Amino acid sequence: MTVLAQLQRFGVSYSRDRAVAPALADVDLDLKAGEKLAIIGESGSGKSTIALALAGLLPSEAKLTGSLVWPGYPDRPPRAGRDIGFVFQDPGGSLNPVFTIGNTIAEVVQVNRSVDWHAALQAAHELIDRVRLPDPELIARSYPHQLSGGQRQRVAIAAAIAGRPLLLIADEATSALDTIVQAEIVALIRSLVEADGMTLLFISHDIALAASLADRIAVLRSGRLVECGDTRTIIQEPKDAYTKQLLRAHLAVEA
Ligand SMILES: Nc1ncnc2c1ncn2[C@@H]1O[C@H](COP(=O)(O)OP(=O)(O)OP(=O)(O)O)[C@@H](O)[C@H]1O
Ligand SMILES: [Mg+2]
Repeated sequence: MTVLAQLQRFGVSYSRDRAVAPALADVDLDLKAGEKLAIIGESGSGKSTIALALAGLLPSEAKLTGSLVWPGYPDRPPRAGRDIGFVFQDPGGSLNPVFTIGNTIAEVVQVNRSVDWHAALQAAHELIDRVRLPDPELIARSYPHQLSGGQRQRVAIAAAIAGRPLLLIADEATSALDTIVQAEIVALIRSLVEADGMTLLFISHDIALAASLADRIAVLRSGRLVECGDTRTIIQEPKDAYTKQLLRAHLAVEA
């Protein structure tokens, strides 16, 4: 598998104050083209910081160390919005409340493909259908508040893939949803990613959910990568004490 993005001794700190621990430190991680990689870790471990770094969306005050390279893109790294689709946790917040769903998605289509508005709206209907929402015409005419959280997250996914990205980043995309809807959204993400040959970066604090989808799992703790490997190895033979702790915590929640 070719490497899509490579982090080497990669670090991010937000403060000039040396007393504050960096958000990320010494991370060595390859994102392989076509794989489904999960990053797990508790709140504040640096998961979103990795996602934002890959998407080139870190705030300007963030200080970077080490390197982040895209070997296949020496001249211009993939861009968020077009080459990289992003789905965030809050299904409502990522959608503009004053635009219809159809207009929101069509706008992303128009920005990324040279088509007229009519064709963009047509593409929006097709995308709504692809994320398995019933009655695309009706959904397209709806406003975000008229949909359920799960439906809004499907719309957010449709908008994220509207630019035909090569990489889809789902940052706690299912965390605000109940368990059954969570599983449906994970299944949807899997089928879209596999159908389009996208690479997936799936970010979650839930090791079991990550394992249900990912080929590989990277475990972050306090900004450091403690372990990374095939999903089965991480789940069945975790090497690091922290990974074992996450697995035990999950089993305790299940029991
Ligand atoms: N813009 C920012 N300015 C200052 N500190 C930040 C900023 N963004 C993140 N941090 C800090 O960087 C660290 C890592 O944050 P990050 O958002 O990457 O964690 P996370 O694993 O995504 O957490 P969560 O599961 O809660 O989303 C935290 O200590 C956080 O407070
Ligand atoms: Mg986060």
